[in-house]
Amino acid sequence: MTDINEKLTRRTFLKVAGLVSAGIALRPGALLGKDSGMITHKIPSSGEKIAVIGMGTSRTFDVGGNPDAKKALGHVLQAFFDNGGALIDSSPMYGSAETVVGDLLKNTANKEALFAATKVWTDGRQNGVEQMQASMRRMGVMPMDLMQIHNLRDWRVHLPTLRRWKEDGSIRYIGITTSHGRYHEELEQIMRTEPLDFVQFSYNIANREAEERLLPLAADRGMATLVNRPFQRGELFRRVKGKALPDWSAEFDCSSWGQFFLKFVVSHPAVTCVIPATSKLRHMKDNMSAGFGRLPTEDMRRRMVETVVSM
Ligand SMILES: NC(=O)c1ccc[n+]([C@@H]2O[C@H](COP(=O)([O-])OP(=O)(O)OC[C@H]3O[C@@H](n4cnc5c(N)ncnc54)[C@H](OP(=O)(O)O)[C@@H]3O)[C@@H](O)[C@H]2O)c1
Repeated sequence: MTDINEKLTRRTFLKVAGLVSAGIALRPGALLGKDSGMITHKIPSSGEKIAVIGMGTSRTFDVGGNPDAKKALGHVLQAFFDNGGALIDSSPMYGSAETVVGDLLKNTANKEALFAATKVWTDGRQNGVEQMQASMRRMGVMPMDLMQIHNLRDWRVHLPTLRRWKEDGSIRYIGITTSHGRYHEELEQIMRTEPLDFVQFSYNIANREAEERLLPLAADRGMATLVNRPFQRGELFRRVKGKALPDWSAEFDCSSWGQFFLKFVVSHPAVTCVIPATSKLRHMKDNMSAGFGRLPTEDMRRRMVETVVSM
């Protein structure tokens, strides 16, 4: 087992693995024909900027050793980086996803912006340490950019480890996650009392509960927010199936329902980054487009909600 203390910097690691692509530095957005790069938001605890469209890996990257599925996902991952993406969110809870991401990254070009995020999802201090070490090996990333406690699991035990690892440079940021409205009260309590760099929860145009307390609290406490389930696990597409995109979507450079849903999320002032998951190249390109151009104003956001609610 690799000793976490023998950690390599990301660049050293990539060099060791022979993966640094020679001078291939496509300008983010170039493939989408956009002149300015992807919109970025600041991580409040550091001021570091991060591209607003990230990607999730739950289910979509859990393909084990299936060669055809892996080949297809290699193109999805390449499109993510070629179009300005940075943050990839995984978890040991997602079956083989961490391993698949790690394998595919070895043959992905133009990935200098990679911001790797995973989670600890077990009980007990030592189990947590071993699981996090295994995640770093599987994803091939040391230090890990963001380590999150998955669904608050045994958070009192893991948080001191995460703090120690941040101090010694094994991880760069600390976070905690939840989804579809679970544990919000407890999450709020943790956010009020513990200094965290990131919080992750669900937020989308049909589930706006996070607007009430979590998003304002994150802004107050200077925490970056990662939004999961931006498509309500795909349910939003079923809702608008066969329905025309409103003409006024063009006013914020939106040409698909996918972009409509993502632009709604990232235009909330307290949202740092959204992590849609897809297994399809055309959907990845569509999702990345949402990080470019204008975003809806407050008035437009209200109109967007009315439109979707009435469907
Ligand atoms: N507690 C937690 O920490 C937690 C909980 C939930 C989620 N998460 C994270 O958040 C990520 C996102 O959430 P999620 O995966 O549950 O759901 P999601 O991103 O809301 O929805 C994913 C679904 O949307 C479809 N899709 C994606 N882009 C599309 C497009 N442009 N057009 C049409 N369909 C599209 C995908 O199908 P195709 O493959 O066909 O594109 C997939 O079925 C997860 O992968 C995970 O990383 C974390």
